[in-house]
Amino acid sequence: MAFNVAIDGPAGAGKSTIAKAVAKNRGLIYVDTGAMYRAVALYILRTGTDANDTEAVAKVCVGADITIAYEDGVQVVYLNGENVNAFLRTEEVGNMASKTSAIPAVRAHLLNLQKNLAANNDCIMDGRDIGTVVLPNAQLKVFLTASSEVRAKRRYDELTAKGEQADFDKIKADIEQRDYQDSHREIAPLKQADDAVLVDSSDMTIDQVIARISELCDEKA
Ligand code: DC
Repeated sequence: MAFNVAIDGPAGAGKSTIAKAVAKNRGLIYVDTGAMYRAVALYILRTGTDANDTEAVAKVCVGADITIAYEDGVQVVYLNGENVNAFLRTEEVGNMASKTSAIPAVRAHLLNLQKNLAANNDCIMDGRDIGTVVLPNAQLKVFLTASSEVRAKRRYDELTAKGEQADFDKIKADIEQRDYQDSHREIAPLKQADDAVLVDSSDMTIDQVIARISELCDEKA
């Protein structure tokens, strides 16, 4: 049986940075499910579909054939055969993903892909519903969070370090809006699984969080 680690938590909690590092030092594959939702959102944007028209999104999303490959250890998302990694991390795609991921047909479209990856690989998978819905039997579940203030500050620093314009208040408001959407939707809302370990990284360094989760992996392996 494959060894599965589920990491859930709100946007900007550091899930992908931490999961990538733990994957590397514990020999696991890192599966970024947010990137899959983003790829579907990109498809919805490209087709000009109105995100508020749930029926239209449900119909259109089946045309998004999403596959995952690992190239030099990096997850590459293919949308209908095209490598779309370079288009997934924009605010526009993130905001669209937050809306479209609340639509049951979109979630159903990606669920099997995620379950199959976990059944066939020792992996660490991050998202919002991994411990609760996708991998309810994962050997280790972590709920990784941080205050919205800290998450906004991290995002702000990331953007300004790249020389990009950033507005802290807007970033914080967007994060809080996305938290609300992700945790109040009817289907697979963001919430801590009963058997998940809570890690609040507000006052921890990245290295401390990586060490803590690696240690938890060792306890369950
Ligand atoms: O983690 P992220 O920001 O890349 O995720 C993009 C959006 O996809 C986010 O608004 C929540 C959604 N998502 C989800 O609903 N379920 C997942 N397992 C992963 C992401």
